[in-house]
Amino acid sequence: MPSVFIKTYGCQMNERDSEAVAAQLVAKGYSMTADALTADVILLNTCSVRDAAEQKALGKMSHVAGQLRSKNRKAVLGFMGCMAQSRGRELIDKLPDVDLVVGTQKFHRTADHIGDLLAGRAGGVVDTGEEKGSEATIREHLLNGASDKRPVTSFVSIMQGCNQFCTFCIVPDTRGRERSRSIDDIVSECRELVNRGVREVTLLGQIVTSYGRREIGERDGKSAFVQLIEAVHGIDGLDRIRFTSPHPKGYGDDLIEAYGRLAKLCESAHIPVQSGSDAMLKRMHRGYTRKRFLEIVGKLRAVRPGIGVTTDIIVGFPGETEEEFEATMSLCREVQFDNAFVFKYSTRRDTPAAAMENQLPRELIEQRHAMVLAVINEMGARRYEKFVGKTMEVLVEGPSRRNAARMEGRTRCNKIVVFDGGNRFHGELMELKITRNGSFTLYGDPAIVNLN
Ligand code: SAH
Ligand code: SF4
Ligand code: F3S
Repeated sequence: MPSVFIKTYGCQMNERDSEAVAAQLVAKGYSMTADALTADVILLNTCSVRDAAEQKALGKMSHVAGQLRSKNRKAVLGFMGCMAQSRGRELIDKLPDVDLVVGTQKFHRTADHIGDLLAGRAGGVVDTGEEKGSEATIREHLLNGASDKRPVTSFVSIMQGCNQFCTFCIVPDTRGRERSRSIDDIVSECRELVNRGVREVTLLGQIVTSYGRREIGERDGKSAFVQLIEAVHGIDGLDRIRFTSPHPKGYGDDLIEAYGRLAKLCESAHIPVQSGSDAMLKRMHRGYTRKRFLEIVGKLRAVRPGIGVTTDIIVGFPGETEEEFEATMSLCREVQFDNAFVFKYSTRRDTPAAAMENQLPRELIEQRHAMVLAVINEMGARRYEKFVGKTMEVLVEGPSRRNAARMEGRTRCNKIVVFDGGNRFHGELMELKITRNGSFTLYGDPAIVNLN
């Protein structure tokens, strides 16, 4: 059977979508390969959130197409995901070697399209329409392989789309309106994962705190999202629950209270703040204030003192004044984030921010980006130092990504811990004594209690 190479750009939702596509292809008999140049099918799952992400995928595709041509090899070339959705046929016009463009509501049709293309039944396929029920089609997982390689953590897609329309963001365009799967469907997927050795799930969506708002609604003062967490929490054999990305406006008291009550809900929260200035948050259409954000973090730290808090920040949004930028810097210092992704504002077509006056010069954006990064790195180092000497529970995920001779796992507060140990620890929840820290990594030793 033909072999398939998939490269993924962008967020965890894209990673999850790629995994589901791979699982669907493997179920049909295709094999997956890590080598693009010998593959029969080459798929790039793309991201549009910033221009750099689009350029990377476009560059990769034209590079691959050029190499194949010089070797006189023919392969099916396809774009999937967010850029495929937003640009559609334009991609084939730009890169005529491309045979397939699959949008974000059509991932589950990829295998059929590839079959048609390989059989010569089709050419230049663009499938980017809307499809009712597509939110429930990202379900299959790749869980085969030897037991010491099987994943112990898994992403589970709970919803698609976003209705927030932040003025800088292309996601509502690429992923469409919010559509949620049912609680039963999600719980049964999680149960199957647990039966196959998974101990931690991360519930995924672009705005998970809005999960099921329309389809399910509140019950007994609990949002649909909290109802979902409770249902997943009830699965025997599941040890840890995470989610990403939430929106600050979704941190009602019901969610805070869930942290106090549901032990499997890990004490880590990635809460994108974007800016520390109220005027800016308003222009971004974020729907909260600096004060409200600080209040959420305060409440979370009150119910779970060890909670790890990370965020996303955008610098250089149109019209960002010196004062507004300073407000972001001071917010970072005030919150003491464990880590943050700091992004340079990138103009996205057809977004309201693209038409705003006073787009900032490149150099100023670069300068401000470096300044925020410096604060984040300094704070991160200080926070990571504090873990040295502590004993922490780590779920061992597999060999370390940097050094395959070691193992790595994550703490409940989402810190990576690397330690000396073999595959027998794979999938174990174990206590590790933290001996030293690197930048955004901890190093540990199995604690005495585990060495019986
Ligand atoms: N849905 C998530 C994040 C989606 S995109 C949320 O709302 O939290 C991930 C991050 O990319 C955003 O949090 C934001 O910081 C950044 N981002 C989105 N659009 C951007 C743009 N036009 N330029 C720069 N960064 C952007
Ligand atoms: Fe984009 Fe805002 Fe939706 Fe996040 S909440 S995906 S930043 S529109
Ligand atoms: Fe990028 Fe799409 Fe995710 S635009 S960030 S891959 S939802």
